Amino acid sequence: PILASLGSPPAVERPAAPAQDDLKRIAAHRAVELLESGMVVGLGTGSTAAHALDRIGELLRRGVLRDIVGIPTSKKTEAHAAAVGIPLSDLHAHPIVDISIDGADEVDPSLNLVKGRGGSLLREKMIEGASRRFVVIVDESKMVPCLGGSGLAVPVEVIPFCWGHTLGRLRSLFDGEPGFDAKLRRAASTGDGGKGEPFVTDNRNYIVDLFFDNGIHGDLDLISDKILRITGVVEHGMFLGMASSVIIAGKDGVTVLDK
Ligand code: 5RP
Repeated sequence: PILASLGSPPAVERPAAPAQDDLKRIAAHRAVELLESGMVVGLGTGSTAAHALDRIGELLRRGVLRDIVGIPTSKKTEAHAAAVGIPLSDLHAHPIVDISIDGADEVDPSLNLVKGRGGSLLREKMIEGASRRFVVIVDESKMVPCLGGSGLAVPVEVIPFCWGHTLGRLRSLFDGEPGFDAKLRRAASTGDGGKGEPFVTDNRNYIVDLFFDNGIHGDLDLISDKILRITGVVEHGMFLGMASSVIIAGKDGVTVLDK
C-alpha cells in the first residue's frame, strides 16, 4: 500500500522547553546587562544569583565591564565572587550601592518578596535596602498570588538565646491562622528528620520558618511590624516594597515588571 511505502512522517523538531536552571540563567544575564563600569553592585545569594556572579566575572575578564565593586550578601557569595574575580567590599566602605541583583523565593503581584530560604535574608535586606536599584531575578515558578502561598516557609532570623521562647511568641502572633505552623530550621546535613543541630546563619543566628496554608493575608506592613516588635527577632524574610524591578524568565520569554 502506498501509505506504508511512504513510511512514518518525519518527526517535527520542537525545541525543548528550557529547564528551570536555564530560566534562572536567562533572568540573571538580563539583569547583568544593566551594569555599567564603575558601579558598586550588591551580589545576591542562591542558585539564580550565582548565574549573575558567573556572568559578571566573565564580563570583567573580557574587559566588557571594568572597576566593578561587589558587596556580597553572604559568605557563600563572597567565596563565589572571589573565585570568579569580582573585587569585593562592604557597606562600611560603600554605604550606597548602585544596584543589587538577587533571586527570591516568592514574588507577589505588588512585587513584594519572600527571601531567605537560603538563610541569607539579613545581609540581603541590609544591602538591598541600601541600593539605589534592586533588581530581582526569578524563573516563573516564583510568582505567587500572595506571599507564603507556595506552601514553603517565610523565614524569620532569631537570636539563639531562648529561641524556643521567641518561636512561641511567633506562634501566638499567628494563633488561629488556618494551618499555621512555626519550626526551627535544622541544618540539612544532620539528616535526622528535623531533630539535629539548628541551622546557623552567617550572623550566628537561628532561623524560625513560618508556614501558612493559604498564604499571609492582611496588611503586610502591619504584620511585618508585629514580627519585628518581638524581642529576639532579628529580621524576617518579607521584603516589602523593596524591589525596583523583577525580571521573570518563563518558557514563553522574559517579562520585566517595574515598580
Ligand atoms: C537566599 C535567598 C535566595 O535569593 C532565594 O532563596 C532564591 O534562591 P534560588 O535562586 O536558589 O531559587 O533569598 O537567602
